[in-house]
Formats: sequence, C-alpha cells, structure tokens
Amino acid sequence: MEWDAGPPPVVAHIFERAPLAAYRNLPERFRLEWGPIYYRGRLDGSARVLVIGQDPSADENVARRILVGTAGQRVQGYLAKLGITTSYVMINASLYSIYGQFDAQLRGFLDQPPLLQWRNQLLDTLAATSNLEAIIAFGKAAEHMVKAWPGSAPFKQAKRLFHLQHPTARVPQTLLGSWNDHLPKIAAVLAADVDGSVDLTPYALSGFTPSDLVRIPLRDFGFGAPKWMGTGDMAMRVNPGQTALSHPPTDASILWTALANNG
Ligand code: URA
Repeated sequence: MEWDAGPPPVVAHIFERAPLAAYRNLPERFRLEWGPIYYRGRLDGSARVLVIGQDPSADENVARRILVGTAGQRVQGYLAKLGITTSYVMINASLYSIYGQFDAQLRGFLDQPPLLQWRNQLLDTLAATSNLEAIIAFGKAAEHMVKAWPGSAPFKQAKRLFHLQHPTARVPQTLLGSWNDHLPKIAAVLAADVDGSVDLTPYALSGFTPSDLVRIPLRDFGFGAPKWMGTGDMAMRVNPGQTALSHPPTDASILWTALANNG
C-alpha cells in the first residue's frame, strides 16, 4: 500500500514560508479557521501534469489535501480519460477556503507582492523539479495565477498550457464543452501513465454522470486514511444558525468545529 509521504524538503521549505499573514489581513474573505491546505499528488519530481484549482472546501479540510471532494473527483475522472493515474501534482490559487466567488477583490489580493512572489517561487520549483508536459488551470482564479507567473511562457508557447472551466462551474453545457474541446489537445502533448488508458470519449453536455467521477487514490492521502476518503461527498459546511442538516447525521457522522483564530 502506498501513502503520501508529504512534501520533500525543498517544497516543505516553501510551504512553511507561505504568506499566511496576508490571508489573515482579509478575514472576511477566507475561512481562516480551517487552516491552509497546500496540495495533492506527487511532489517528488514524478509529476508530468500540473493541475491548478481555486480553493479548498469541506472535504479538503478533512483530508488536508486539495481537490478530493466532488470537484476533485471530476478532475480525477478527467485525468483518467487522459490516461493519467499517478503523475500529477495539484495546487490551488488560494491556500484557504474562500467566502463567495473569485472576484476583483480576490484578484487584487492574489496580486499582492508577497503572494505573487511566494506562488511564483512554488511554481518555479515545481517546474524545475518535475518534467511537466502540461499545465491545466481550472477556472478564473487558476487562470489569473498562471498568467501572473513568468514561468508559464514556455508552456504557453509550446501549447502545453490549458485553461478549462472550473469543475463546479454552473452551466454544465459550457463546462463540459470546455473539457471536451481540450481533451484531444491535452492528450496530444501528455503521455499516459503505464497503467492508464486514454479514452477521449466526450462527456454528455447534459451534466456529469456518476461514472465520470473517479475516486481519489489512497496514495494521495497521508498514512492510514480510511477507504471512504476521496469517494462521494463526505463533508459539508454547516452555516451559523443552521440546526437541521440536509442529510440527517448517521451514527458515523462527526460534527467537527474549528477553533477561531487557530487555523
Ligand atoms: N476543491 C479544491 O481544492 N479546489 C477547487 O478548486 C475546488 C474544490
């Protein structure tokens, strides 16, 4: 059984210096209590595709890895179509969960020098330590982040940089149309993993079906993660004042409350 061993020293060094203070200066836009969530996938140099998302949500908060809930399982399904089972690394534009949508205020936030420099250092390091064949940016925040990274130029020039709609974008037809259009283009520059098989059958534009979602491999989690982690939609946010949960808790449910100011 394989487990994620965590970041190697070169990446841990960068993560440990993340500009968390800047997030704390904008508490109305970030779920600071949940803490920062940094990545998922291979940081050991074996990643051949870099995936960029927007911000973590409830499932990510439990797993401490990004893109593990519904959005992540949609992305995992997309990678599976490209024959990618293992050789990926994923980061988000925001380390913390965002309140509301990615808007002008958050664009300005991401452009602040401490955030920009830190992110670009992380991206430079990922590019320098891995043989990246493609970069896939999902959604506007990821697009903004990649465009602000000088290191993206060679990928753009080589037609190895792809901007796709976010996996939870509201209009299925546009979202899946964007994913369908890019499938053959990405497959043309990204080799499949040895245990992967390429299937470029387009998605039905009416919406994702259960078989379009692929579980997150346990190897993406820390040692000892339970088998349910990375399947279904396990965690949900409970808003202040919300007494009745939409799905009644079962005996196996945990209501977990983060402490203010300790994220
Ligand atoms: N979860 C993430 O980690 N990132 C996204 O963009 C969406 C959900």
